[in-house]
Amino acid sequence: MSKHSITVVVNGESQTQQVESRLLLVHFLRENLSLTGTHIGCDTTSCGACTVLLNGEPIKSCTMFAVQADGAKIETIESLAHNGSLHPLQEGFWERHGLQCGYCTPGMIMSAKGFLAKNPNPDEAEIRHAISGNLCRCTGYNKIVEAIQFAAEKLQSAQAAEAKGE
Ligand code: FES
Ligand code: FES
Repeated sequence: MSKHSITVVVNGESQTQQVESRLLLVHFLRENLSLTGTHIGCDTTSCGACTVLLNGEPIKSCTMFAVQADGAKIETIESLAHNGSLHPLQEGFWERHGLQCGYCTPGMIMSAKGFLAKNPNPDEAEIRHAISGNLCRCTGYNKIVEAIQFAAEKLQSAQAAEAKGE
């Protein structure tokens, strides 16, 4: 089986590896890089459990070959917490009980992260639309929406404080 050399920046770290052309990005992340926070739910582009950010855009990593990501910047759920402090999205899911089994959560959070970067002050309908490619089978979506609203508010007040030089 022929292999291809790819270089990707994952969570800020450059990674060069030889991969088979059929290797899916989700398997590259989970198996080659041991980043197992990205989940596999359906393997058929339906559930969103495998969502990561590719150059800032949420994508389903079960639907892309690793070779197609060559040269890209990828962010996974592992990039969110810093020095033991949760990202506002993680905090929101914690505070607003946005999860039950948690299996869908990394994908939900990565979709929300990409979304809030573009739309920092969304209304409820926009949030629901943004996570419409992510399925949750046990919590229901109200708490997830509240968690994302919590994060949006927190991120906005952090930005306002930064702008004031606080
Ligand atoms: S595992 Fe990728 S969409 Fe379900
Ligand atoms: S919390 Fe269980 S699938 Fe969403």
